[in-house]
Amino acid sequence: MNRRGFLSLGALALAPHAFSAPRIQRLKIAATRQPLVGAGNPDTAVWAYNGAVPGPELRFKQGERLRVEVENALGAGTTVHWHGVRLPNAMDGVPNLTQAPIAPNGGKFVYEFDLPDAGTFWYHPHLGSPEQVARGLYGALIVEERNPPAMDRDVAWVLSDWRLDREARLVESFGNPMDASHAGRIGNTVTVNGAIRDTFAVRAGERIRLRLINASNARIYAPIFEGHSPRILALDGQPVANLNQRVVLGPGMRADLALDCTGAPGSRHRVIDDFYAQRAYEVLKLEYSADKPIRAAFEPLPQLAPNPLAAPDLAKAERHRIAFGGGMMGALPSQREHQGLFWTVNGRPISEHEHQGEPILSLRRGQSYRVELVNDTAWHHPIHLHGHVFRVLTADHWADAVLLDPRSRAEIAFVADNPGDWMLHCHVLEHQASGMMAVVRVS
Ligand code: C2O
Ligand code: CU
Repeated sequence: MNRRGFLSLGALALAPHAFSAPRIQRLKIAATRQPLVGAGNPDTAVWAYNGAVPGPELRFKQGERLRVEVENALGAGTTVHWHGVRLPNAMDGVPNLTQAPIAPNGGKFVYEFDLPDAGTFWYHPHLGSPEQVARGLYGALIVEERNPPAMDRDVAWVLSDWRLDREARLVESFGNPMDASHAGRIGNTVTVNGAIRDTFAVRAGERIRLRLINASNARIYAPIFEGHSPRILALDGQPVANLNQRVVLGPGMRADLALDCTGAPGSRHRVIDDFYAQRAYEVLKLEYSADKPIRAAFEPLPQLAPNPLAAPDLAKAERHRIAFGGGMMGALPSQREHQGLFWTVNGRPISEHEHQGEPILSLRRGQSYRVELVNDTAWHHPIHLHGHVFRVLTADHWADAVLLDPRSRAEIAFVADNPGDWMLHCHVLEHQASGMMAVVRVS
């Protein structure tokens, strides 16, 4: 297809006139307190959207126009990034790259854009994120299909973890060099939708669409549903072929599961996460009511309709390679470490405040690209690209992030169809803030 063809295709996907009038939401960002740990324990001081962690679950229909009016009542600047959404660059919420920070003590900003893709997305700050996300700023953004599959319930679990002391106070050592140079800030308390949960109530025979969102700074989740075999309907909001495999979610990543409640009335089943060997824990228990099953047998699972993504032309794709380095057990000139920069992208660390430097890649709009992502470190890195959804060639599905195991590689491919300067970074927020970020320019 010629360049003009691509341009008109892109315009079609993002043109406002094809969409409805905006549905308006308001987000007020402020400090508050929340009972994270529960009965008999003190509340925890948190930062929240509209007074609760997670922030409100924003639900739209595919093709709708979102308008969110944000007010920042914090004493610190912030932004809102709409993770995984293909939106115009100016709405991407990256400070000093796509917008000025929303000023503290009453600053306002309006985000408004169309939602071309259905799926499970989320929102969070992109400024001082090791602190702001750890304090509780995140929420689910759910874009429903035009014809959603039949499910008895559609539920999001926003997974996060906290580093709390014995009085349930947040330990305020955000972005410290120890966390930044190792696995990031992994907490000691895991919450589901803003509280430690003992149970999740289900009924026998139910089919639940369970949307898992990893909103943690650094923790990786790999839940096992004992006695159940949920199938993966979508990864990062993008449909997959009902994969029957274990889901592994790096920070920022999402999975939509179809959970068929095949257990017996009155039974209990643990959801266990043993991603970190020696540190398995129970997330919660599925607790069946005594009611008789609502169905005797489950219909075959429907496939979700694909989103309107441009397929990369692999034969014509231009190839690039990006290597991630640094961290403990890596090599980095010590003078950079003194500035708190522990990680590199193609040999260079970039900090949050200097990403107006040269883009790591300059891509031509409409052209297909294949990018090899190489992890030269001893650590996990979920590498996330803004403004685009890519094909993970090494795993054969669409995504907006790919979790690189230590000393491993992945290959992604995409059409650079969204103009602007876009972040490419590790979603372990301490890694991002200490060098593991870069800019990809599409023009
Ligand atoms: Cu979830 Cu650059 O962000
Ligand atoms: Cu990382």
